[in-house]
Amino acid sequence: MSDTVSIVFDGPAGVGKSTVAKAVARQLGFTYVDTGAMYRGVTLLALEQGIPIDSRHQQEMLAAIKRADFSFIFSGEELRIFHGSRDITEAVRSREVTGKVSYVAALPEIRQGLTALQRQMARSGNVVMEGRDIGTVVLPDADYKFFLTASPEVRAGRRYKELVAKGMTVDPDTVLADMVKRDQLDSSRQYAPLRKAEDAIEIDTSGLEIDAVVNLVLSHVKELCQESRNDI
Ligand code: DC
Repeated sequence: MSDTVSIVFDGPAGVGKSTVAKAVARQLGFTYVDTGAMYRGVTLLALEQGIPIDSRHQQEMLAAIKRADFSFIFSGEELRIFHGSRDITEAVRSREVTGKVSYVAALPEIRQGLTALQRQMARSGNVVMEGRDIGTVVLPDADYKFFLTASPEVRAGRRYKELVAKGMTVDPDTVLADMVKRDQLDSSRQYAPLRKAEDAIEIDTSGLEIDAVVNLVLSHVKELCQESRNDI
């Protein structure tokens, strides 16, 4: 049995996973691990270093990850991502990276490399980890598993508001179309597709404010924790 505690969140893009996972990590004093940011970091490297994103160039990408020395700093409010001393937090969210990341995430050797890293992070301390395959592949024995859902329209609406709040000019239909395409790629890939773990608690966030989802999660954790006498 592991002596660290893991709480995992999986679900499609724009479902509120990051906001909920960060709030839960902050309240419990756990390390927050955004695995999507790791796939985005690799995608940024590949684009910047001109490495073609296909199965024949996976070793090159893995070598670039090793050289890259990524680090993640979570302040409790936000996660900042560094490549050496360069802050790449905004760069990994660019439209270009977002458009390509699902192709990188479908490559089996990249997944194996990042999965090993994610498991190591979970072994070294209590974590709240979010992604697409955390409850199914990365940490199938996680202590608490949640799967968040919401309709594509609700998710695209949230993403649209976020982008507008950042001062970006975007078309709502394009945001919806990009999101549906990414979901389709993430759910239909051969390796570790987006899928609910059988033992995950599913929460439909469509009609809920973020605080309500966080409270629901924390009450499930408390309840399960009392049942298992896990001390957190
Ligand atoms: O959560 P996000 O939008 O930052 O994720 C970026 C991409 O990475 C998304 O297309 C799905 C993929 N991903 C994945 O395949 N497995 C994970 N554990 C996390 C993200």
